[in-house]
Amino acid sequence: MEKYKAIIEKQLKKYFEEYKKNSSYSSLIWEAMEYTTLLSAKRLRAIMVLEIAKSFDVDIKTALPLACAVEIMHAYSLIHDDLPCMDNDDLRRGKPTNHKVFGEAIALLAGDGLISFGAQLIIDKTPPAVSKEIVLDIVRDYLICAGAKGIIAGQICDIEAENKKIDIENLKYIHKYKTGALFNFAITSSAKLAKCDKKIIENLQNYAYNFGLLFQIYDDIIDYTLTTEELGKTAHKDENSNKLTYVSAYGLNEAKNIFYSLIDENCAILNSLGIKSEIFEEIYSLLIAKVKK
Ligand code: IPE
Ligand code: IPE
Ligand code: MG
Ligand code: MG
Ligand code: MG
Repeated sequence: MEKYKAIIEKQLKKYFEEYKKNSSYSSLIWEAMEYTTLLSAKRLRAIMVLEIAKSFDVDIKTALPLACAVEIMHAYSLIHDDLPCMDNDDLRRGKPTNHKVFGEAIALLAGDGLISFGAQLIIDKTPPAVSKEIVLDIVRDYLICAGAKGIIAGQICDIEAENKKIDIENLKYIHKYKTGALFNFAITSSAKLAKCDKKIIENLQNYAYNFGLLFQIYDDIIDYTLTTEELGKTAHKDENSNKLTYVSAYGLNEAKNIFYSLIDENCAILNSLGIKSEIFEEIYSLLIAKVKK
């Protein structure tokens, strides 16, 4: 994971260097976009892009622009998620949130700027050996993921569910979209680079949405159990905002049981696809270690 992470972060920096040039009066927007994107982070989604590509024999150079685009969309979702009108968080990745540093208006624009920057990178930087049809299909998926049938579908329900009574189906829907949509895009778009057939993409889609769900359950658990210092974001945020989460709906122990059973399910899906990945094993170990803390 560390090797992939270094490659991704080096490339992200290079892209920012290249595109922010000659921005004249508007250079501040690039500073704000770069700030949250380059703060220390796990880079899980981009690592998954590279790992799925590797599993299907796509070389790293081909998948790297897509991996960076995924990280860039993720950074957008975090900046907007933290805004005072959303979760109102002061801390992200161990540092002040984007709006705390740049102000709300610039943070809003930085999120907007990142959405289009990611799509542009896929178009500009995916090597020409990948057909235009595949690039178009992936950019379409990117836009769906960023939009009202993707992350935003989950985020609106998350906000609307605050202070409401528990509805488990609604909770699953929130997690599926606010978090699962981006994991789904990372994994399936990488498989599309590899020209995987429909059946494999469908299986990977199940795998990715399952991962999104277990990852958000993990995030709900650690929000409840870890400290602000350990999290790099404000602890007990969900409880204090009366959010609908797996911990509030099921209690801590049952949330953990569901998390573990989703990991088992996912290992079975990957096995059935004949993919043996030390990286995914490393990711699950990392999440489990934090949940056990
Ligand atoms: C945080 O994602 C947002 C959620 C979907 C829970 P990560 O835990 O992957 O955050 P970074 O990228 O490592 O900061
Ligand atoms: C994560 O939800 C979803 C997105 C950022 C899109 P949270 O609101 O739980 O994420 P954190 O806990 O602030 O990272
Ligand atoms: Mg949120
Ligand atoms: Mg939040
Ligand atoms: Mg959270």
